Amino acid sequence: MDLQAPLSVLKGKAPFTPELAIVLGSGLGALAEAPEARAGTRVLFTDLPGFPPQTVAGHGGLLIFCEMEGRRVLLQAGRFHFYEGHPMGLVTAPMRLYGRLGVPAVLLTNAAGAINRDFAVGQLMLIRDHINLMGTNPLIGPNLGPGPRFPDMTSAYDPGLRGQLAAAAAGLRLPVQEGTYLAVTGPSYESPAEIRAFRALGADAVGMSTVPETIVARQEGMRVAGVSCLCNMAAGILPQALTHQEVLEAGAAAAGSFEALVRQFIRNLAL
Ligand code: HPA
Repeated sequence: MDLQAPLSVLKGKAPFTPELAIVLGSGLGALAEAPEARAGTRVLFTDLPGFPPQTVAGHGGLLIFCEMEGRRVLLQAGRFHFYEGHPMGLVTAPMRLYGRLGVPAVLLTNAAGAINRDFAVGQLMLIRDHINLMGTNPLIGPNLGPGPRFPDMTSAYDPGLRGQLAAAAAGLRLPVQEGTYLAVTGPSYESPAEIRAFRALGADAVGMSTVPETIVARQEGMRVAGVSCLCNMAAGILPQALTHQEVLEAGAAAAGSFEALVRQFIRNLAL
């Protein structure tokens, strides 16, 4: 998709170059309603040429430039998912824009199902690595970014930022998990057999976002940190069906600890 037009609108509205962009995942949108965020500069996705309105319940659809914990941040409430039928170019367009705005780092958050049986609903997982099972790659096509044609994914989730997240969690006495996030397209949830297969592959959590954004953010030269809110045990682990409602409710229940973690991380952010 054309990035020039939305980029020039965003540059025109941006009051500063953010130190960190934060993508707020399902149920984690409360931060967008915090007083600092309310006082910030809001840009609706629909103000950006080529960006369609949002469709899924629980997702907003705006960018907020604000000062939070003494730092300049850009909050992204809502994201474009591949399962909505959007092309990967749009799914990852925000990362391209942040890269070109000069944002040095992004924190990607999401709701995920826990595959690792040692994990519990409501816990947060720091993403250490990912497995891309979306069946495609957002970099297919002309190389749009400043980075190489074949970007390295060895340390896609920045070890330094992950250490800072772990330190923030420890400071709050908040127990967090660390693990591998596996991305599928959705929108159906997985079958129990798929979850067993994913566990055998080494996945700890499963979700329908984040990986394309990570790949493009890395190609844009940004440092990436990722946190999953484990909103349900993945299919087949518990003797019950999965519902989107349950995912949203668990996200809402974990919102307090998530927000505390993010604020502590921002406060002590060392880039
Ligand atoms: N599977 C895929 N995506 C998800 C899940 C899940 O169990 N929970 C939240 N997002």
